[in-house]
Amino acid sequence: MSDLPNLDHYWLPFTANRQFKSMPRLFQAAKGNYYTTIDDRRLLDGTAGLWCVAAGHGREEIAVSVANQLRTLDYAPAFQNSHPLAFEAAERLAQYMPPGLDRIFFTGSGSESADTALKIALAYHRVTGNPLRNKLVGRERGYHGVNFGGIAVGGIAGNRKAFGNGLAGVDHIRHTLDIGRNAFTRGLPQDGGIALANEFEQRITTLHDPATIAALIVEPMQGSAGVLLPPVGYLKRLREICDKHGILLIFDEVITGFGRLGTKFASDYFGVVPDIITCAKALTNGAVPMGAVAVKRDIYDAFMANSPAGGIELPHGYTYSAHPVACAAALATLDIFATEKLEDRAAGLSTHFEQVAHSLKGLPFVKDIRNLGLVAGIELESIPGKPGAAAFATYLKCYEMGVLVRYTGDILAISPPLTIEKDEIDRIFSTIGEALTTLAAEGEAGLDPTRHLKNEQQWVAHQQEIHQQHLILEHTA
Ligand SMILES: Cc1ncc(COP(=O)(O)O)c(C=O)c1O
Repeated sequence: MSDLPNLDHYWLPFTANRQFKSMPRLFQAAKGNYYTTIDDRRLLDGTAGLWCVAAGHGREEIAVSVANQLRTLDYAPAFQNSHPLAFEAAERLAQYMPPGLDRIFFTGSGSESADTALKIALAYHRVTGNPLRNKLVGRERGYHGVNFGGIAVGGIAGNRKAFGNGLAGVDHIRHTLDIGRNAFTRGLPQDGGIALANEFEQRITTLHDPATIAALIVEPMQGSAGVLLPPVGYLKRLREICDKHGILLIFDEVITGFGRLGTKFASDYFGVVPDIITCAKALTNGAVPMGAVAVKRDIYDAFMANSPAGGIELPHGYTYSAHPVACAAALATLDIFATEKLEDRAAGLSTHFEQVAHSLKGLPFVKDIRNLGLVAGIELESIPGKPGAAAFATYLKCYEMGVLVRYTGDILAISPPLTIEKDEIDRIFSTIGEALTTLAAEGEAGLDPTRHLKNEQQWVAHQQEIHQQHLILEHTA
């Protein structure tokens, strides 16, 4: 057991800080598909970190590449100067992108990628002589990070309401989840896609003028809001509507990029090519912060052709755009994807993953199960008056049983590394099943997190107890 650090000073993001600090869940190491907690327990990673560790933890190739880069060139100014690895990383990423999206702008995160994409879209219309095309459309329950642009087009109320008025000139289309019609659908819902997409056209025609819309931004598959899938035909229809009205289509592929659906990007999976793709996360396997925005060559060319000679074509960028160390990590990650064909691996596992995920149907609390590629969302019945409590308690129980899952509201989201093995997939879902059954049996008492893990001593004692139980179970199995 490593020492517990002083917990006072660090303000954790998207975390109930008081609750967390009363029972900290700290990791000290990670290798392959497992984390090790500071109390030396192994946790199977059912979430690839935060959707980012696609190639599994502790990849030596990335570590070596990053360490070498740090010793050779730790930093180069990103503005008016650069370094060769930036161009190499851009070239390699362009080759990995769907055809045509081969001009790359680097950022430091998914949030920065989303805001960069929105700014490029607005500036593109301005530079091509259409400055009145200045409205942005996002989607309900969309997540595009936490910067002001991202939360404006994003559609998660909790992420918006505390932060003032946001951007003007933003509208949203309806999300695609329809549990009444599609509960327990395996893969994509079959019906309703065209009608839902047509609402976009209807909305911009009724409430705006389509000629004022700069861009529509959507996640091809909504991840953070709880795995919301696009019905068949929906994304293709959005593409057609955007084409008809001269609107740029942005796919936020921060989660779906790099093999998550069994193809390089979701764009490849759906056969729909947007004008702009944002990515981050698995671009460096989560090892170093980095994001990127890929744009169609025409867009880049328009900036080059129409901006005053010698002037900066896009007044935008970050100190850490194309950071040398991040580029080294990205190149090593792209090498891993090329040699290990992780997209194909994910595709090969997806049927098994789907079967095992849907085996939870009928268990207590389970209201819907959704899946695509190596992603599953398990929506739970909320306990009246206690939204989120069922999922949080399930998450804690899984944690105690050695499996890391993720939850948002009352939805569990599973997205393991693409290096996951079949028996590990089985273990993730059987653990969730066990947690749900236990929770139902315990009733109200099972929902009280403090009952499980009140403070450090209790936490450690509890972990030891669980560990012992597991040893006994393993021994008797
Ligand atoms: C679709 C999407 N866009 C943007 C982001 C924000 O990425 P970051 O947290 O790296 O800023 C996320 C993060 O989960 C995401 O899922």
